[in-house]
Amino acid sequence: MNEIDKKSLENAKKLFSSGNINDIEVGTTKGLQQIHKYLFAGLYDFAGIIRKENISKGNFRFGSSLYLEEMLKKIETMSETTLNEIIDKYVEMNIAHPFLEGNGRSTRIWLDLILKKNLQKQVNWENIYKKLYLQAMERSPINTLEIKTLIENNLTDDLSLEMIFKRIETSYYYETSD
Ligand SMILES: Nc1ncnc2c1ncn2[C@@H]1O[C@H](COP(=O)(O)OP(=O)(O)O)[C@@H](O)[C@H]1O
Ligand SMILES: [Mg+2]
Repeated sequence: MNEIDKKSLENAKKLFSSGNINDIEVGTTKGLQQIHKYLFAGLYDFAGIIRKENISKGNFRFGSSLYLEEMLKKIETMSETTLNEIIDKYVEMNIAHPFLEGNGRSTRIWLDLILKKNLQKQVNWENIYKKLYLQAMERSPINTLEIKTLIENNLTDDLSLEMIFKRIETSYYYETSD
């Protein structure tokens, strides 16, 4: 893990240990921007800022910067009642990919806030292998079954700080190149 990632991981843990997590708006673009800013302030000059460029990963082009604002407004209004709806919302936010970098790490915390509020659950990232997670996310713009199965089978209601830290570490590990 490089220095930026290490510092960002510390910021992510502080977001929870400080209680600042309770000030984050749940399920909105603003909430995601607040999380991104907290994680990457002083590390990326675009912390919390919606991108103006187009980006892609593998063969997939994320939401066009021309329509990103519109896309994000629609995503905010998506329902969060059932697990199915919540994952659909998460998948759409991943397709939008509002930031130049740091979407995975910030959007997984955004997802966990939605799950906590509506279902009193969290994703147990610790139990989900990096490779399976990434494969499921690569597939998700076409078919959400894989990511839904993975998450459905790995929910937890353990909200202790110790376990939250472990899950955040796994979430950061997903994004390291190894
Ligand atoms: N080919 C792909 N198609 C769609 N989504 C992808 C693809 N590859 C990775 N992702 C998603 O993008 C995330 C990484 O986005 P990125 O902005 O690099 O975030 P971070 O810097 O936190 O890693 C992954 O966690 C995964 O959810
Ligand atoms: Mg990345």
